[in-house]
Amino acid sequence: MWSINWRKHMAHEDHLLKKLWMRFALRGVQFADRHAALDRFYRVEDPWGMESPRELFRFGETNNLIRTHLGCPNRILELGCGEGHQSAELLKISNHLFGMDVSSRAVARARTRCPTATFAVGDITSTQIEKQWVPFDLVVACEVLYYMKDVPAALAAMQRLGKACFVSFVDSRRERLEPLIAAIPHVSWHRIEFQDLGWTAVWWRTTRDFSNHIN
Ligand SMILES: C[S@@+](CC[C@H](N)C(=O)[O-])C[C@H]1O[C@@H](n2cnc3c(N)ncnc32)[C@H](O)[C@@H]1O
Repeated sequence: MWSINWRKHMAHEDHLLKKLWMRFALRGVQFADRHAALDRFYRVEDPWGMESPRELFRFGETNNLIRTHLGCPNRILELGCGEGHQSAELLKISNHLFGMDVSSRAVARARTRCPTATFAVGDITSTQIEKQWVPFDLVVACEVLYYMKDVPAALAAMQRLGKACFVSFVDSRRERLEPLIAAIPHVSWHRIEFQDLGWTAVWWRTTRDFSNHIN
């Protein structure tokens, strides 16, 4: 009994410490391309709490939406893969996953978590995106657009690389991101809700003709 309470207490302490770390380390990173600060944030393991029920719920809902509306993609490019928590989920609905993140600390952990996937440090403009994989069947950017300075440029790059795109963003970033994404033709929207938290998920098929694409 005592040990269960102690474990609960420690989990609570850990949660509070991570919350404090988040407040401190993530100052000024929104819409700012502050890659070094994002990498520093990963000095602690799982700083976002990606193993929490709310995030696991979001991953599950994301997979359901992709499977239902875009089928099971053969090759996925995941931008902002972090430590690979969502990558592990995306691997359940795809054959090949290529993950990118600006944090080398995060990418090192993602490689351990998902040994069958391929990971690289960089952003969407990175030359490390395997040319022979383009076009990807799906380019995913979940909870990452709001760290980028030039969101329209990132959205345009996603559409150049994939046959379909999927993005999600938490409610607090909705005001800024929604109008930018609404400008893309034929997007579909869905709201994901877990207790008092909400996210917007958006997906669309791209219009680029890849039939004459030469790698
Ligand atoms: C909140 S985490 C999201 C992780 C995962 N996509 C998810 O939804 O659970 C945001 C991640 O995006 C990464 N990131 C931020 N800007 C980026 C960029 N321009 N290119 C690639 N990754 C980026 C951060 O380093 C961080 O790992």
